[in-house]
Amino acid sequence: MAPTDHFEIFLATAPGLESVLREEVVALRFRAAKQVAGGVTVNGNWRDAWRANLEVRGANKVVARIDAFRVSHLDLLEKRARRVPWCDVLRSDMPFRVEATCKTSKIYHSGAAAQRIERAIRDELGAPVADDAAVTIMARIENDLCTISVDTSGELLHKRGFKVAVNKAPMRETMAALFLRQCGYDGSEPVVDPMCGSGTFVIEAAEIAAGLKPGRERAFAFEQLATFDPAAWGEMRAAAPRVNTALRFFGSDRDAGAIEMSRANAARAGVGDITEFKQHAVSDLAPPPGPPGLVIVNPPFGDRIGDKSRLQALYRALGQTLLTRFTGWRVGLITNESGLARATGLPFKPPGAPVANGGLRVTLYVTGPLP
Ligand SMILES: C[S@@+](CC[C@H](N)C(=O)[O-])C[C@H]1O[C@@H](n2cnc3c(N)ncnc32)[C@H](O)[C@@H]1O
Repeated sequence: MAPTDHFEIFLATAPGLESVLREEVVALRFRAAKQVAGGVTVNGNWRDAWRANLEVRGANKVVARIDAFRVSHLDLLEKRARRVPWCDVLRSDMPFRVEATCKTSKIYHSGAAAQRIERAIRDELGAPVADDAAVTIMARIENDLCTISVDTSGELLHKRGFKVAVNKAPMRETMAALFLRQCGYDGSEPVVDPMCGSGTFVIEAAEIAAGLKPGRERAFAFEQLATFDPAAWGEMRAAAPRVNTALRFFGSDRDAGAIEMSRANAARAGVGDITEFKQHAVSDLAPPPGPPGLVIVNPPFGDRIGDKSRLQALYRALGQTLLTRFTGWRVGLITNESGLARATGLPFKPPGAPVANGGLRVTLYVTGPLP
């Protein structure tokens, strides 16, 4: 067995979401899932890496760790990098690029480290280097240990390949999926987002209920590697057809443009028939007919000075509407200020750790079924 047939696979997520990503990875039957800083590791082969890209909703990227060795200076790094079995992994006709990071190591110049590895690969394999290459080799040098990885995803995985349009401050699909999971959502109840923006939560929830895999349509960097097998990948991708669901998923927003975007995004994702989007303010929100489920919402964040009293009033109105009309529904609310969550008057459980989202730290607040 070549050394690159079985390796550690790293699935990256935002710090604070590692444990919920691990839950998802375990539920998808990946082997030896371990929570680490910034993500989860599993053991596997190239097909496991493809499957992770296809099926895991919460990971930002999937990285194959193909080699690791100790290094103390740049010449040694280049010499050792030549012995990585590049021919097993990379194609000689496919451009590649190298990204290096150095931390508490004798090699401290990440640019020079990247150049040395690029030269080693170019000499051994003959493949061209290009800044805009689809294939990225990642070298992390930490405490003089160099780990060589291949980014198997390419574009970050929140780009499912369906969104035609985004509103301001959209939630990333990967983070939305993990927040849905933290709210106990498993695809068996209706979901309402009364400030749906571009529709991220509603579309993710509908896809989960319909058994649609998040990576079903998009392209991945692993398709450019020597280890890729288009026929086997085609079979893997086709293996899970859409399942029928009687559930419906509801989004509303006071902004007409947001509703238009949500409808277009849902249609492109193939869930237009099980999602409904309506333009109205949160004060006009009513529960849909049928059994209760989950309300999940990220209202505007408190990111501008002077917004405070307006936002307090908005959160209060949201809380009032839910408390008076949504008996039996659970609520998940994402915001960046505990005072705004408190302003809703909703009976939130003690929250977990905040999560980095762009420049902000956001927290998920959840309730049990409302009285
Ligand atoms: C942070 S964004 C939500 C982003 C969304 N989760 C997404 O992924 O695209 C907040 C949304 O709340 C909407 N909004 C603000 N005030 C509202 C109100 N009173 N009623 C309904 N929607 C409101 C805004 O139009 C905006 O789309």
